[in-house]
Amino acid sequence: MSLFRNILLWCSENNWLKSNLPRYGFVKKAVKKFMPGESSLEALNAAKNLQRHHIPTVFTKLGENITSLLEASATTGHYIKLLEDIEKEKIDSEVSVKLTQIGFDLSVEETFKNLSKITAKSASLGKMVWIDMERSGYTQASIDFYKRILAEYPNTGLCIQAYLYRSEKDITGLIELKGNIRLVKGAYKESETTAIKLKKSVDENYYKLACILLKGVKEKKIRAAFATHDLGLIERISAEALRTGVTKEQYEFQMLYGIRSNDQKLMTEKGIRLRTLISYGESWYAWYLRRLAERPANLWFVIKNIF
Ligand code: FDA
Repeated sequence: MSLFRNILLWCSENNWLKSNLPRYGFVKKAVKKFMPGESSLEALNAAKNLQRHHIPTVFTKLGENITSLLEASATTGHYIKLLEDIEKEKIDSEVSVKLTQIGFDLSVEETFKNLSKITAKSASLGKMVWIDMERSGYTQASIDFYKRILAEYPNTGLCIQAYLYRSEKDITGLIELKGNIRLVKGAYKESETTAIKLKKSVDENYYKLACILLKGVKEKKIRAAFATHDLGLIERISAEALRTGVTKEQYEFQMLYGIRSNDQKLMTEKGIRLRTLISYGESWYAWYLRRLAERPANLWFVIKNIF
């Protein structure tokens, strides 16, 4: 399993595959399982559908490591227009942004200006902006950046990855600053000195960090989002919340569009707060390969599409 995971994660970073694989129809067809389409209109329609089932959403336009500031500013404009559409459609949706999608590799100052624009627009609508966490080479810089943006915009949250050894210290520090946190297991190829390799140990660390976060929710009133499809963990986190007197309204779970869709509906029906992250856009290759790596059984779905 872990060999498959490593091969898929290697493919996600390979430039030749990145520019050639997305051209094949069967790959495009397989991607549909995880995203409603490439356009924001298709994403908005999917959100309206989920809203009918009382499921709120988060949008993310796919793309990372852009190479020009013009592109960064176009993406910023795209998110602001999307927020206007969210307002017009009156849907309960937020946005989630990758820092390298709005210029982080090129200029931290320009990235700050870009994110400030998106965050200011979100704040005017009473909404949150989430910041994704990319590979570990970006972790420290992303946390430093987040602290800066949080000081001006409390309506921001940062993703923290449970597979990193450093995350307990990071979460504890961010809670002190009243940072809002989305906890994930982690999706990138990392070295064993940086990240926990054994899946069972990642799961245990996730639970340990979740308990720290629940305490933060209670004491600091921060917003905590547990982004996982792991039903066992969801049950344990819900039980710990109940035990410690954190109410269902004070925390939420997040899942990806197309994964455990029935469970998403069932959880919502039971009154558990759940938000679905909808990804869209043309730059889906690396992101899609990371989804395959999370569950190599998904490869059968691609193979079925070839035939
Ligand atoms: P785990 O991988 O153990 O899966 C539990 C079960 O869920 C599986 O047994 C399977 O049934 C189902 N499942 C999980 N993934 C599946 C898939 N791809 N296809 C089909 N079934 C699947 N990562 C990151 O590094 N930075 C980030 O910013 C984010 N952001 C983010 C936001 C949101 C809302 C979510 C849900 C996830 C992320 N991630 C992320 C991805 C995260 O790190 C992780 O890779 C995935 O969520 C898979 O891990 P699980 O916690 O679901 O557990």
